[in-house]
Amino acid sequence: MSKQNQHLAIFASGTGSNARQIVKYFEQHPSISVALIISNKASAPVLEMARQAGIDTLVIDRPFFYESEDILKKLAAYPVDLLVLAGFLWLIPGYLVQAYPNRIVNVHPALLPKYGGKGMYGMHVHRAVKAAGEAESGMTIHFVNEHYDEGAVIFQARCALSPKDDAEQIAAKVLALEHHHFAPVIEQVLAK
Ligand code: GRF
Repeated sequence: MSKQNQHLAIFASGTGSNARQIVKYFEQHPSISVALIISNKASAPVLEMARQAGIDTLVIDRPFFYESEDILKKLAAYPVDLLVLAGFLWLIPGYLVQAYPNRIVNVHPALLPKYGGKGMYGMHVHRAVKAAGEAESGMTIHFVNEHYDEGAVIFQARCALSPKDDAEQIAAKVLALEHHHFAPVIEQVLAK
């Protein structure tokens, strides 16, 4: 039997193309909904998308996120069952990891443990993959702990690379995988 009324909070710093896919995927879902979209950038396009979709938004700054634990109250209000990091670049503080054990997931645009860690985000990842002459890349969905890109892997998908692919083409292939897989994997995590 499916669980009743589970809520997601999505954290995103940027464009939010993954967040958009996730919102679309769960729009008509019988028991899972996106309750809140959180960003550290007031001007992030993802917030406008959230408003248009009628989803609550929250803009956070460093003191609020790292020096208080007030976000826990905001999340508890729904209550939020799973935190989804979709292009969110700040490290998740320990109090939040402890409050949501195995309930925070991130998508990373490479096949971890390769091309992960501090500074490995966005085009930095794809340029490094290109420079290494990799024959494949892919995406990783993993649980989040207090270290960048080190939590247990939940799911990976791969794509073949041609020597002709530049970093932008690699990025596009990987992003397509993220858009395809992230929301169904979130659904599976919530079903457990
Ligand atoms: C994705 O490539 C994701 O793997 C990484 O940040 C990017 C976010 O893209 N963590 P978008 O904002 O969802 O378009």
